[in-house]
Amino acid sequence: MLDIDKFDESITGVNSPDPLRYAFPQKTSAHAGGMAAPIPPEQKAHTLNRLLQQPGSKHQKRCLYIHIPFCRVRCTFCNFFQNAASRKLVDGYFEALMVEIDQKAAQPWTQTGVFHAVYIGGGTPTDLSPEQVERLGKAIQRSFPLSTDCEITLEGRINRFSDEMFERALEGGFNRFSFGIQSFNTQVRRSAKRLDDREDVMERVASLSATQQAPIIVDLLYGLPYQTAEVFEQDLIDFMATGAHGLDLYQLVVGGGAPMINLVDKGKIPAPATTIEKASMYELGSQFMDQHHLRRLSVNHWARDNRERSQYNSLAKTYAEVLPIGCGAGGNIGGYGMMNHRTLETYMSAMKSGDSTVAMMTKQHALEPLFSALKSGFDHGVVRRDALPAFIGQSSFDLLLPLFEVWQQRGLVTLDEQYLVLTLAGRFWAVSLAQASIQVLQKTYQEQTALQPAVSL
Ligand SMILES: C[S@@+](CC[C@H](N)C(=O)[O-])C[C@H]1O[C@@H](n2cnc3c(N)ncnc32)[C@H](O)[C@@H]1O
Ligand code: SF4
Repeated sequence: MLDIDKFDESITGVNSPDPLRYAFPQKTSAHAGGMAAPIPPEQKAHTLNRLLQQPGSKHQKRCLYIHIPFCRVRCTFCNFFQNAASRKLVDGYFEALMVEIDQKAAQPWTQTGVFHAVYIGGGTPTDLSPEQVERLGKAIQRSFPLSTDCEITLEGRINRFSDEMFERALEGGFNRFSFGIQSFNTQVRRSAKRLDDREDVMERVASLSATQQAPIIVDLLYGLPYQTAEVFEQDLIDFMATGAHGLDLYQLVVGGGAPMINLVDKGKIPAPATTIEKASMYELGSQFMDQHHLRRLSVNHWARDNRERSQYNSLAKTYAEVLPIGCGAGGNIGGYGMMNHRTLETYMSAMKSGDSTVAMMTKQHALEPLFSALKSGFDHGVVRRDALPAFIGQSSFDLLLPLFEVWQQRGLVTLDEQYLVLTLAGRFWAVSLAQASIQVLQKTYQEQTALQPAVSL
C-alpha cells in the first residue's frame, strides 16, 4: 500500500480552491520522462547495431522520425533552433540524410515490421527545396515498409510554402501537414520574429485547407508577449475561419537559451504570460473548442473532422518504437533510448567517416512500458485501469490509487473503478501529473528491488 504522506506537494499538488491556476507552481518541461541508465560511449554503436541486426516484431506499432535541423530565422521563443539555413549547408545535410536513410532502411529490424506513422520534424522541414521534399517523400515510400494507412507528416511553416512545394510534397506521398503558426496576430508575430503578417498567414492556411488534399494542422502557442486573452481568443476565431482540420494548443515554456529572455530583460518586449495567466488562457481555449464542437484528441490537440488522426503524436507516446534519423533526432528501439549527434559538424563528420551517428544511448527503466502507458493516458486525459501494465505482479492502478484519491480531492481528476479522468485543471497540469505518477512508481520500485543507481533522462 502506497504511503502517500511520504510525498510532498510537488507530487500531490497544492490543496487550493482553484487547482487550474494553483495546483503546481509551473510547468517546467514539455514531456514527462522516467529514469534510464546510460550506455557507456564505447558500447553505443555496437548496441545499436545489435538491435538493428535482429528482426523486429511484426505486430508492434512503430514510427519513423526524421529531423531537419535548420530554420531561416530564429524565433525569439523557440527552444528547438539548431542551425541557420543556408542553401549550401542544407544541400550537404540533405545528401547525408539520404545516405542515413539507405543505411537504416537496409537493417533487418527495419524491414521486418511496418511503420504506422512517419514524422518529418525540425527545425523547419519546409525550408528544404520542393525537389528535396519530393525526393525525401519518395525515398521514404521506397525504403521503408509502411502500413497501408501510414500517416506521413511534413512539419514546417507557411512562409514560402508555395503551391509547387505543396504539390511536390503530395507527389512524394506526404498526407498530413503541420504548420507552426503560433499566433495570427501581426504584433505578436513580429515581436517573435515570425515573418508574415496575419492576413497573409490566414489566407495561405485557408487556401491549403480548401484544397482538401490532406489534413492541415495549425500549432498555436499561448502566453507570448503581446498575446493578451483577447488576442488569443481572436487567434482561435482566426483558426476557425481558415477551415484548417486540426489544432495544437501549446503552453509557452521558454528555455534558458531562447532569445526572448534577453529581450525581456533589456525591456525591449513585455514579459510573456505568467503560469496563472496561461492557465486562464487554456481554460478559454478549451471552452472555445467545446463551444465549437471540436473533438479533443489529447489535452492539447483538437480535430475538426475525422480525417485528422494525429497518429504520430499518440503512437510516439505509447509503446511504439521510434526509429530516429538525422542530426538531433531521438527515438527508442527494443528498450533502449537513443539520440543522434546534435551538432551539424559532429553529425556530418560521423556520416563522412562512416562512424555511428548515435551520440547518446540509454537502457530504459524496467518500468518504461508502464511509464509510457501513463504518459499516453495523461496526454489523452483518461488513464484506463486495463491499459496499465502490472507493477511487479500487482495492479498499477490500485497501487497508485492513494495518489489518485488525493488528486480527486484537489480537483485534478475524477475517479471510478476503471478510469481516472482529468478535469480541466488536470488537463492543464497533465505533464506534471504524469511526471508525479512516474516518480512515485520509481521510488516504490527502488524500495522494492534495491535497484542500481540510475540517471534521469
Ligand atoms: C519545433 S517547432 C517546428 C515548427 C516550425 N519550425 C515552426 O516554426 O513553427 C514545433 C512546435 O513547437 C512549439 N514550440 C516552439 N517553441 C516552444 C516553446 N518555447 N514552448 C512551447 N512550445 C514551443 C511551436 O508551437 C512549434 O509549432
Ligand atoms: S519555431 Fe520553428 S522556425 Fe522558429 S526557431 Fe523554432 S523550429 Fe525554427
